[in-house]
Amino acid sequence: MPIIEHEEYQKMRIIPHHHGSVFDHSLAVAYLAYRIASRCNLDVESTIRGALLHDFYLYKFKKRENRNILIEGLRHSRNHPKIAKKNALKYFELNVKEIDIIVNHMFPIGLPRCYEAWVTTLADKSLALIEYSARVAYCMYWRRRRQLPRNLKA
Ligand SMILES: [Fe+2]
Ligand SMILES: [Fe+2]
Repeated sequence: MPIIEHEEYQKMRIIPHHHGSVFDHSLAVAYLAYRIASRCNLDVESTIRGALLHDFYLYKFKKRENRNILIEGLRHSRNHPKIAKKNALKYFELNVKEIDIIVNHMFPIGLPRCYEAWVTTLADKSLALIEYSARVAYCMYWRRRRQLPRNLKA
């Protein structure tokens, strides 16, 4: 069963993630992980499938009222790989490597067992950093712009 075209997978298009959607993020991680895996002669198909599904948790992360954002973030970091695995198994058949990629992509919270999972956690972290930096830069730009006198705004 193709993953990207699946209607449940398409739902990730509307779930925000750093500076885009979980859908965009997952495709970008899958592409980067694929590039690294093919260079290293690893199991490219499992890498792509696992990476596509690594964040298949299908909910919007939202801080609950009166809860510490750090604790909420940590809870999300710990729980979403398990939820992604459960969702993925509901709609797709997965092999051991693909499950390892999903469950352990939040290293050091999880510990990858196969090289394909290490490659995916590396791709995920690199892209998360870039996406998060883009978001911070975007927010700073608009904050600065709001502070400028009206006649200096382009
Ligand atoms: Fe994740
Ligand atoms: Fe991710």
